[in-house]
Amino acid sequence: MSEAELQTRREAETAVELQTSFRQAMRRLAGGVALVSTVHEGVRHGMTVTAVSSLTMDPPALVVSVNRYASAFDALAASGRFCVNLLTQSHADLASAFARKPAGDARFANGTWRTGASGLPMLDGAVASIVCRLHDTVEFGTHALLIGRVEELDVEQQPLAPLIYLSGQFGAFWPLSA
Ligand SMILES: Cc1cc2nc3c(=O)[nH]c(=O)nc-3n(C[C@H](O)[C@H](O)[C@H](O)COP(=O)(O)O)c2cc1C
Repeated sequence: MSEAELQTRREAETAVELQTSFRQAMRRLAGGVALVSTVHEGVRHGMTVTAVSSLTMDPPALVVSVNRYASAFDALAASGRFCVNLLTQSHADLASAFARKPAGDARFANGTWRTGASGLPMLDGAVASIVCRLHDTVEFGTHALLIGRVEELDVEQQPLAPLIYLSGQFGAFWPLSA
């Protein structure tokens, strides 16, 4: 093996190690779990996400990071609107169902869904359902950031316990101070 080939191999190994460590680190970041849903050409699409973040309060906007190879991605980008449904502790099975086959409309056999004023699927019993208009899409590597401007909100007024994902497991949050 030439020196150049050895160098390339070392760089590839370093990149793999970096990716492995990064994955380990991110598994330790607790995330709230949501289902992002949309409807495109009459077909509902949805998937489980933790990569949701508030972007600005003025205007109200959020960002979701979605794998461009996920089955729901094209519909999310093309429909121009999506709903972020924040899950409760009772939704762990739903979160699993929306991350595995079958994809497309069949996923909506899980949970109780209604059609909001926007025409988008909204989950009954969610902590909140946030309807957004897609403002912009920023591609980076395998993913794309969907920037959504909030248009319609349904916030449960009862304090519902959110579903948390950490180290590959679903769990609950409890405050340190009683
Ligand atoms: C708890 C959990 C969180 C996830 N978070 C994200 C996410 O933020 N972004 C993303 O693109 N995929 C995320 N996924 C993976 C997608 O839900 C999953 O890959 C997708 O729904 C399945 O792909 P398919 O629709 O092509 O079958 C997550 C999965 C789980 C179980």
